[in-house]
Amino acid sequence: MRHDSSIVAFQQKRGGDCAAFLVPFLTSDMILLDAGCGPGTITAALAGIVGNAVGVDIEPKAIAAAHQLAAKAGLANVTFVEADMTALPFEDGTFDAVFFHAVLYHQSQAVLARTLAEARRVLKPGGLVATRDADVGGNVLHPEIDGVRLALDLWQRWYEHDDAQALRFGRRQSSILRAHGFTPVWTGASYVNHSADAESRSEAVADARRSLLGLRPQLVGKGLATDDEIQAALAGWEAWGRDPDAVYFRCRCECVARKD
Ligand SMILES: C[S@@+](CC[C@H](N)C(=O)[O-])C[C@H]1O[C@@H](n2cnc3c(N)ncnc32)[C@H](O)[C@@H]1O
Repeated sequence: MRHDSSIVAFQQKRGGDCAAFLVPFLTSDMILLDAGCGPGTITAALAGIVGNAVGVDIEPKAIAAAHQLAAKAGLANVTFVEADMTALPFEDGTFDAVFFHAVLYHQSQAVLARTLAEARRVLKPGGLVATRDADVGGNVLHPEIDGVRLALDLWQRWYEHDDAQALRFGRRQSSILRAHGFTPVWTGASYVNHSADAESRSEAVADARRSLLGLRPQLVGKGLATDDEIQAALAGWEAWGRDPDAVYFRCRCECVARKD
């Protein structure tokens, strides 16, 4: 996994908008699995639409945060389980839908194959798999500050250091799901808006800072970046955050496919 564990705070801000594309395919009698659920924010939003929602994550801290969220919201139809999505603790044909949000593009080819085979196994015949993942080709940035461009390049160096196509995952979701035995029924894309107002801009700067500082040991350790580059990238984000007209829209590609 290339997943950056410093971003739990960012994940907690996510909600139903991340799964809006899936909502038209869901009904109130369905059982849904949110695989790699993180702190459970999206699972909780989906629990309001389906009959039962289950979130699994391999990280105990994420599951602890998800349990807290469910208790605080008084959600009776959501369960969180610490489990590995490549070896799920569920019977064959348990779920009507399996959702992966910002999960699959972090995986190596071998782990991706195991994950999708498990999704197929736990889905009922005719069940749905839904994915939403990044594609660097759709991002919109203004102004094109050098330090911010460098930050985007540093993230690309990290995420693509062992898979040159990692950040072009979004556009390939449909072909990937088809190659793993699903039949795609819908594809689309939407944006995460990091610049709606001054508050979201300052959150974007804080998230970028947290991520760059979190990745610094690996980036520098693997010789993918220098400390000077990381400092320049941090300064770039600070300058971007001071510009009241700055925008950063991040593309997320979406796909729904069926188990025949
Ligand atoms: C980028 S986060 C996305 C979290 C959540 N889906 C969201 O979008 O807010 C990826 C999540 O996948 C989890 N994960 C990674 N490998 C896993 C595995 N083999 N089994 C279960 N969860 C895994 C990580 O712990 C992390 O919480």
